[in-house]
Amino acid sequence: MGRVFVAGSINMDVVATAERHPRIGETVAGEAVLYFPGGKGANQAVASAKLGIPTTLIGRLGTDAFGRELRAFLAAQGVDLAFVKDTDGTHSGTAIITVANADNTIVVVPGANGLVDADDVAAPTLAKGDVAVSQFEIPLPTITAFFRRARAAGATTILNPAPAKAADKGLLDLVDVLILNETELGVLAGTELRDNDAPSRFAEAARALGRGKIVCVTLGKRGVLALVGDQPLLVPGHEVKAVDTTGAGDCFVGALASQLATGKPLRDALAYANAAASICVQRMGAAPSMPTAEEVENAISPRRRPGEG
Ligand code: RIB
Ligand code: NA
Repeated sequence: MGRVFVAGSINMDVVATAERHPRIGETVAGEAVLYFPGGKGANQAVASAKLGIPTTLIGRLGTDAFGRELRAFLAAQGVDLAFVKDTDGTHSGTAIITVANADNTIVVVPGANGLVDADDVAAPTLAKGDVAVSQFEIPLPTITAFFRRARAAGATTILNPAPAKAADKGLLDLVDVLILNETELGVLAGTELRDNDAPSRFAEAARALGRGKIVCVTLGKRGVLALVGDQPLLVPGHEVKAVDTTGAGDCFVGALASQLATGKPLRDALAYANAAASICVQRMGAAPSMPTAEEVENAISPRRRPGEG
């Protein structure tokens, strides 16, 4: 079995819940203020580690109270933090989030995440069969350096280009598996895409981006559309009642990475990651809402209780 290495952001999510989102210039009364560990890198690492796969996070924290809390939380989830550095002169990554009707808006301030550099990602040793994962909340040249090393070691590279921004071909050429939502696909492919567009529109854009890699377009409750070469594969989502979708995309990425590290075929890994994300949206918070392997297996094939069927 391979190991999962995630180079990425670690944030404290400061969440306000309200009945609805404010309009620009408007103030609305909120219900609660909650502090949840988050950040796309940390969320993906927690998702993988909680599923029982050895997982190493590479990143940076500030030397502040949030940093100490985040480190303790991540250690308790079983994430290897040997390559998470404390950094003076800045703050731990912080996301200001509003959740209303299960939907969120997020302003993320990178702090220490903005300082993760090529030396940081050169520190751990990767091997053949390992999986290297990154997202767009650390500097792009750092991700390029990380993937170059991962490729040289024979590891599989997974890029989740979120939040959306354009990336150069040099970076995209180092990617084996690209996992992105409709918006991110639109930005990378340079076309305007909408949530309710037909899957064929997404397939077309993904194909243009593909160039020999696997592209997975996450379509929320519609599931995930994967392209392997020219072959489209639609794996349906689960019908569940969402309370907070923050981190659901990260759960999908971390779960998929973990299953590819075990050597599972892509179709099964996609179905597994879909089930994991469907559990994540039914709980508040990002990193704390990641499921265990037992919960995911139960969502895929519910265990019958005595007296049933
Ligand atoms: O993807 C969700 C994450 O994005 C949140 O945890 C927040 O920290 C932002 O980075
Ligand atoms: Na959640």
